[in-house]
Amino acid sequence: MKITSETKLYALMGYPIGHSLSPAMQNAVFEATGVNGVYIALKVSPPMLRSAVGGMRAVGVAGFNVTIPHKVSVIRFLDGLDSSAASLGAVNTVVNSNENRLIGHNTDGAGAMAALKEAGIHLDGLCTMILGAGGAARAIVFSLAPAVESIVLLNRTGPKASRLAKDAEKALGANVKGMRLTAESLAENISSADLLINATSVGMHPKTKESLVDKNLLRSDMAVFDIIYNPARTQLIRDAQAVGAKTVGGLSMLVYQGALAFELWTKKKAPVEVMFKAVESQMGME
Ligand code: ATR
Repeated sequence: MKITSETKLYALMGYPIGHSLSPAMQNAVFEATGVNGVYIALKVSPPMLRSAVGGMRAVGVAGFNVTIPHKVSVIRFLDGLDSSAASLGAVNTVVNSNENRLIGHNTDGAGAMAALKEAGIHLDGLCTMILGAGGAARAIVFSLAPAVESIVLLNRTGPKASRLAKDAEKALGANVKGMRLTAESLAENISSADLLINATSVGMHPKTKESLVDKNLLRSDMAVFDIIYNPARTQLIRDAQAVGAKTVGGLSMLVYQGALAFELWTKKKAPVEVMFKAVESQMGME
């Protein structure tokens, strides 16, 4: 790729920035679609966030992503929010409009919905169980709730589950029940679940053998979605595949949230297969 005076700058801000797959994914899609842009990862500590966003504005960066721990705190430095970011109270994508106004969006929930759709999972009428009540669970609940029949939300810290369920009910009038995650609450509620979503960090590298769900509780007639993408196939996904359940891995959500960010920035359709290839190659999966 040739960098010229016309090249637009895009970035990811997080802390730590770790082994983010977003630069590989976005630069691949820029190249494939002929967008004269470059995407870099920037390690921005919380006290530097205000200056960093000011810098983005000052140099006219075309757009940026924010990740942990800035998804909520970035909001006060922006000029506005779209409806998805406003209802969630969290931002993962910022678009710099023509007038140099920074507008926050959130593509996490829509990315999860797109991943489920691509896997052929029809949400209408589904009883859903979601594990976790952190930022990722929140984004998924707010996108999913209007589309499914019901959601049971289980979290290690019970009050967080109840709070998220109440927020979703208040904002969307959705049928969401929150409770503490225990062996009993899990076993009791999973029997009526058509779709199980792990939105916790359990099973993530390096503790790849862990799963919150005993494999005997999984059934072939349910769908299982794990938001973790490292490893690409978590223990939960392996167990679900072993019983013949339909599965969706976290790489798919990662790619679709990135594809939606790309589309917001460039108004072009993202070729997701290019993005999948880039992240898989980055993870040594080719
Ligand atoms: P994210 O923004 O990615 O969702 P987070 O806000 O830190 O990250 O949320 C992590 C989720 O994983 C939380 O729901 C957390 O449960 P708590 O709210 O009780 O902390 C869940 N989690 C992490 N480790 C866990 C474990 N060992 N068992 C059960 N849940 C766990």
